[in-house]
Amino acid sequence: MGDSAVPRPFLKWAGGKTQLVNELTRRLPVDFGDYHEPFIGGGALFFALFRAGKIRKAILSDVNAELIDTYTAIRDCVAQVIRHLVQFPHAKDFYYQLRAQNPADLDLSMRAARMIYLNKTGYNGLYRVNRRGEFNVPFGSYKSPQYCDEENLHAVSHALRQVEIVCALFDVAQTRAHAGDLVYFDPPYAPLSPTSNFTAYHANGFSPKDQEKLRDVCVELTRRKVSVMLSNSNAKSIRALYASSPFVVSEVQANRAINCRGAQRGKLTELIVMNYSK
Ligand SMILES: C[S@@+](CC[C@H](N)C(=O)[O-])C[C@H]1O[C@@H](n2cnc3c(N)ncnc32)[C@H](O)[C@@H]1O
Repeated sequence: MGDSAVPRPFLKWAGGKTQLVNELTRRLPVDFGDYHEPFIGGGALFFALFRAGKIRKAILSDVNAELIDTYTAIRDCVAQVIRHLVQFPHAKDFYYQLRAQNPADLDLSMRAARMIYLNKTGYNGLYRVNRRGEFNVPFGSYKSPQYCDEENLHAVSHALRQVEIVCALFDVAQTRAHAGDLVYFDPPYAPLSPTSNFTAYHANGFSPKDQEKLRDVCVELTRRKVSVMLSNSNAKSIRALYASSPFVVSEVQANRAINCRGAQRGKLTELIVMNYSK
């Protein structure tokens, strides 16, 4: 699996799994039917599996509607998305003009081009919205950000051709997955301490109750003979949720690239949970 091969994630995403891809790939079940990824974000594992020829059919979903629209536009009208991006200048004034636009007033291809441009030129590649759900990240200080990588966008479009892309809460996997399928869950991580706030992906956040509900979904999928792999922080609360059979928990090293708390940059251990043995 060459690192330079396309398709690759086309957005920078907080909690992106590029660092963990090898650890996750090593732990895949030998064989699986459809691939489900209900917290798709930047899709690091999906694209790696596609490059490795391991995806037959996939259902990708996320609760973030702008993100899902961007995937849909790249799948269905990538040429139009690229046509917009090549016309966008790398300039602070333009960034704030585009940021001020309401995505709901734009057509699908322009909404996607706006998302990609803001993500690649905005501060630290963050996705952050205010209470009204408006994207509020300031202009970044990149010299020449690559916001129009045509080769990769075409490769992503090709990879998504046979893929269902859905805006939904994570429990959609419970209604869609069948025996023999694989579901990979990469939820917003549980905070390691009560003071760390690592869950601002979406106005709603992700509470301890959501982590519990996610564990219950994993239990139900296990009962239905669906393979489940999940990543999360090495928090006590997460260890407790997956402490008993059928769950197998491994600790792995990860280098977090985006973390709102500078003090926590660097090596961290994270958890990979599986409901099968490898
Ligand atoms: C850790 S990120 C996923 C990162 C991804 N694996 C990658 O490689 O970039 C978590 C994702 O979960 C989504 N999310 C948050 N709460 C959700 C929910 N209740 N249901 C579905 N998706 C949710 C966020 O929008 C975010 O994209």
